[in-house]
Amino acid sequence: MTTRLCKVEPHQPDRNALRLASDILHRGGLVVIPTETVYGLAANALDPQAVLGIYAAKNRPADNPLIVHVSSVDMAKEYAAEWPRAAQKLADAFWPGPLTMILPKRENIPPEVTCGGSSVAIRFPSHPVARAVIEESGLPLAAPSANRSGSPSPTCADHVVHDLNGLVDLIIDGGHCACGVESTVVTLCTNPPRLLRPGFVTVEELRDVLGEVEVDPAVFHALKDGQPVASPGMKYRHYAPRARLTLLDGSLADCAAYAAEHAGEHPTVLCFEGEETAFSVDTIVYGKEGDAASQAARLFDALRALDERGVKIAYARCPARDGVGMAVWNRVLRAAQFAVVKL
Ligand code: TXA
Ligand code: MG
Repeated sequence: MTTRLCKVEPHQPDRNALRLASDILHRGGLVVIPTETVYGLAANALDPQAVLGIYAAKNRPADNPLIVHVSSVDMAKEYAAEWPRAAQKLADAFWPGPLTMILPKRENIPPEVTCGGSSVAIRFPSHPVARAVIEESGLPLAAPSANRSGSPSPTCADHVVHDLNGLVDLIIDGGHCACGVESTVVTLCTNPPRLLRPGFVTVEELRDVLGEVEVDPAVFHALKDGQPVASPGMKYRHYAPRARLTLLDGSLADCAAYAAEHAGEHPTVLCFEGEETAFSVDTIVYGKEGDAASQAARLFDALRALDERGVKIAYARCPARDGVGMAVWNRVLRAAQFAVVKL
C-alpha cells in the first residue's frame, strides 16, 4: 500500500486533507491523526473490518481493546450504555482533553473494538486536527497509538512514518504532540473509580472532581504471570527500546558516579537538561529536572533515539513521581522492564 503524507497547519487544517481523511475512513481505510497526547491510528469504529485493519497494521495483540474518539459529549453518550454523574463531572472538567473514560458499552460498538468486553473506552481529544477529522467524517474513530506494537508511542510524524509507512492509507502531519504521553485512563465501571493509566490529567485532579479514586496496582508494579488485568495494555511489554534500560534512583552525583563505573559498557544515559557535562558517557536529554511536562514531551523521542544510535546498554535518571511525573515514571519504568538500581 502507498501511504500518503499530508502536512497541515494544526489550527487551520487544510479542507482537502480533511476531506481525503474522511473519504478514506468511510471506505474502511486507516488514517493516522495527530492528537494532543500522541499520534493515533484511526479507523471507523463502527466498521469491524476497518477496526481489524488497525490490529494488523500495528501487529497488536487481539485482546487489547481500542479507545473510541468522539468530538462532543453528546457523541460520547451515543456509545456508552450509561452516563453516570461521574462521567458528566469528568467531561465538564477535562474534555476535550487527554482523559479516557471506561464505561459500559452500547450494542452499537462492535466487539472488535472492545475485544468482546462489556466496557468501552471513550475520549474527546482537544487537538484541532483530531476534532476536525471526527467532525468532517461524522464517525467515531477507534484509534490506538500509531506505533508498531511494543515500540514507544509516536509524538511526531517521523515516528509514524518509521513504524507504519506502507501499512496505512494516510498520515496527517500536525507537528509535535503537546503532551507526549498517552491519555489518562480511568474506569467508571468500578466503585470507587480506578486509574488504569496515568497521564496529563493527574490522579490528584481526578480526586478533586470525583473524591476517592484508586490507583490500579499495575501502574507501578509488574504483573505476575496469569494475574488478572483491568487494562490489557498494561500486561504487554511497552515503550521498550531495544537497548537494555536501567533506572538509576539517586542524586545526579550518584548517577554520574554509577555511569562512570560502568563506562566499559559504553552506556548512554537519559538525563535532564543541563546535566550532560556531569556524565563521562554519552547522554540524551529528556526534559528538565522537576518539570514533568517537559520530560513527558521528550521521553518517547529519547527512547527512539536510543534505537537510532544502536545503543545496547542505557541508564536513565528517575523522574519525580507526583503529578504528571506519575505518567513519566509509569512509562519509563515499563521501558526499563521494572529494572531500578537504588543508589
Ligand atoms: O492518548 C491516547 O489515549 C492515545 C491517543 C491516540 O488517543 N491512544 C492510545 O491508545 O494510547 P492505546 O490503544 O495505545 O492505549 C489504550 C489503552 C490500552 O492500555 C488498552 O488496554 C486500554 O486503553 N483500554 C482500551 N479499552 C479498554 C477497556 N474497555 N477497558 C480497559 N482498558 C481499555
Ligand atoms: Mg499504545
